[in-house]
Amino acid sequence: MSENHTTTQTGTPVGSDAHSLTTGADGVTALHDRYLVEKLAQFNRERIPERIVHAKGGGAFGEFVVTGNVTAYTKAAVFQPGTKTRTVQRFSSVAGEQGSPDTWRDVRGFSVKFYTTEGNYDIVGNNTPVFFIRDGIKFPDFIHSQKRLPGSGLRDADMQWDFWTLSPESAHQVTYLMGDRGLPRSWRTMPGYGSHTYQWINEAGQRFWVKYHFHAHQGNEEMHGAEAERIAGEDADYYRRDLYEAIERGEFPSWTVSVQIMPYEDAKTYRFNPFDLTKVWPHADYPLIELGVHTLNENPENFFAQIEQAAFSPANTVPGIDISPDKMLMARVFSYPDAQRYRVGTNYNELPVNAPVAPVHNYSQDGAARHGFKPASAPVYAPNSFGGPTADPAAAGEGSWETDGELVRAAATLHAEDDDFGQAGTLYRDVYDDAAKERFLDTIAGAVGGVKSDEIRERAVQYWTNVDANLGQALRARLESDVADPDQAAEYVGVGE
Ligand code: HEM
Repeated sequence: MSENHTTTQTGTPVGSDAHSLTTGADGVTALHDRYLVEKLAQFNRERIPERIVHAKGGGAFGEFVVTGNVTAYTKAAVFQPGTKTRTVQRFSSVAGEQGSPDTWRDVRGFSVKFYTTEGNYDIVGNNTPVFFIRDGIKFPDFIHSQKRLPGSGLRDADMQWDFWTLSPESAHQVTYLMGDRGLPRSWRTMPGYGSHTYQWINEAGQRFWVKYHFHAHQGNEEMHGAEAERIAGEDADYYRRDLYEAIERGEFPSWTVSVQIMPYEDAKTYRFNPFDLTKVWPHADYPLIELGVHTLNENPENFFAQIEQAAFSPANTVPGIDISPDKMLMARVFSYPDAQRYRVGTNYNELPVNAPVAPVHNYSQDGAARHGFKPASAPVYAPNSFGGPTADPAAAGEGSWETDGELVRAAATLHAEDDDFGQAGTLYRDVYDDAAKERFLDTIAGAVGGVKSDEIRERAVQYWTNVDANLGQALRARLESDVADPDQAAEYVGVGE
């Protein structure tokens, strides 16, 4: 028999790919047509739940090469001079569902998994250096406000602006979202950030605080609203196609990766709370230090197996890298593996895209779809007397920080210059040029124009007034004239995490 004949899933030959088994050519279908039944049943199970956020995306494999020397700050093998590490990266939009147009305005996800010799290390960031909230306990509420109304299933400007204006810590990120960063020309032409403050530990055990920056060699390019709307209708997969086709052509997108390093002690007195995810560290205080170059050079062979089932998590750290007392980051460390056990399955880390190149030694066993197992003689518990793996005390608790030890529910300590609107105002006034400011005003006028409640609309004007008094005034004037011309008040719903 030729190797190329169709078989069932259990490898037995199949008589026809085209005709079900029936009682005569025009009769009823036999339930014991195993191939028909298997084919339909298998098909019914092709989908897994989409990611609760960041459902629409695409990605590729690549390589990270260390070009700088940060040995003084971290002992992580992946960041030692000259080291090359294979990676997989996924880009995404946040709020839309799997089929959503790529060019809806949104924050974009920027996730990189490094298959290091010491285990997988993941940076799961965005194309913005900050976030909308600063405590993970607000995350489900935030996402509910940006997704769909329970009754109509529609997105809703009132709930978006209600949440944002009642959560003033969102102002900095909303200033990014409504600016050019909310509509990149492609995934290749946008930066990426780890966003959070992470911890690095060097060979001597000294600790540092660190932030990651990825700057695209392709440059930063935005798309204007009208073009994005047109493309949303013409090609919902515009970014996914752009990345895939560029890599097929041999145009490999790349990013310089840099870090900002803060000495451990500085965190206590720095003018901003350095663990507040709504803040950046000005480069004048902590300049960028080059770390390496990340290049995407290989398309997936199978989108579902290698991109849809990819599981990125801020919990995936390696020796020399750890988390920080950022309340968002600590919540994320729980959330991602939990989501992935549900979305992909208990043993998701056994799938080739998620499996580390470093060997896995522990006593976890069984569970749905378990693939790997140890020899029957291997001990299944610890401690044991039979040479099973033992923990390495040198790896325990290396990432740490001091606290006063009392359990409380409270906002993180404010530092001298901490507030909700200051850095948002600086971004608007000092980073956006005049043309960008014009586009920004157009966007927020359209977005706030979609709000039906007078109270929420007024709060939104106040919110932007707090960011910048002139901006608030200009917005008020625009909203008043747009009400006279309702066509101008385009409703904005494409927002994101
Ligand atoms: C406490 C706050 C947050 C929670 C609870 C949370 C939760 C989640 C969950 C459950 C997923 C889906 C994971 C999966 O099914 O594979 C996800 C995806 C993602 N999140 Fe978050 N998130 C939070 C904040 C953030 C922040 C601050 C960023 C960026 C700085 C971020 C970036 C991403 C990205 C890029 C993805 C997609 C990963 C991929 O490409 O597969 N999230 N988030």
